[in-house]
Amino acid sequence: MLQIKSLKKSYTQGSQEVKIFEDLNFHVKKAQRVAIMGKSGSGKSTLLSLISGIIKPNAGDILLDEVSYKNMNESEVNDFRASNIGFVFQNFHLVSYLNALENVMLPAKVCNISNPKEKAIELLKSVGLEHRIEHLPSQLSGGEKQRVAIARALIHNPKLILADEPSGNLDEETGIAVMDKLFELIKKNNTTLILVTHSKEVAARCEDTYELSLGKLNKC
Ligand SMILES: Nc1ncnc2c1ncn2[C@@H]1O[C@H](COP(=O)(O)OP(=O)(O)OP(=O)(O)O)[C@@H](O)[C@H]1O
Ligand SMILES: [Mg+2]
Repeated sequence: MLQIKSLKKSYTQGSQEVKIFEDLNFHVKKAQRVAIMGKSGSGKSTLLSLISGIIKPNAGDILLDEVSYKNMNESEVNDFRASNIGFVFQNFHLVSYLNALENVMLPAKVCNISNPKEKAIELLKSVGLEHRIEHLPSQLSGGEKQRVAIARALIHNPKLILADEPSGNLDEETGIAVMDKLFELIKKNNTTLILVTHSKEVAARCEDTYELSLGKLNKC
């Protein structure tokens, strides 16, 4: 369902060019769960940002369900992402002035989904937060914030979930509980998952693990 073709990406830092990908090819099947590991700075977050269309490659193309990003303008990419992709960020990225329920409802508003409130409450219940729906992010613990972020990534039933070290900031026990929930919801909905992690235990939950090194994804 995801195809990455001859992808090239570099950043310009002053007069220096930081090459991340020179010719990356990769594909992910529907409902496949893929873990991506690799050293800090190897380009894992860059890859997720490219797949989500948040940043553009210098060359090459990405196709999601045969739809190419190449000829889309910025607003088309944003709409496409809003309807098809759920993103779980490492640092939660919750909107600080919205409570848990309102944060979860955000993508549903953008996508015009029916009954967003009921769906958001149902998801918050499924991640064990029915007693925290009116709490602001500042009134939630780290694990609770991450569970809100997972509920938010799933509300519009995206085809693809991109998760960037979703348990990276959590203690071991909470991290396991949050991952259990993420995998349970993903399996239930047949969602494709690309998960960046530094943890071998978390990677082992996925069918395939790749290591990103020198701009290439090598199967482990
Ligand atoms: N906007 C930018 N401008 C210039 N260089 C950048 C930019 N964003 C990232 N980089 C550089 O690109 C490289 C890859 O960054 P990226 O964030 O993708 O790494 P990562 O594999 O996610 O690392 P980590 O495990 O630490 O999160 C790094 O060396 C980083 O310094
Ligand atoms: Mg990163």
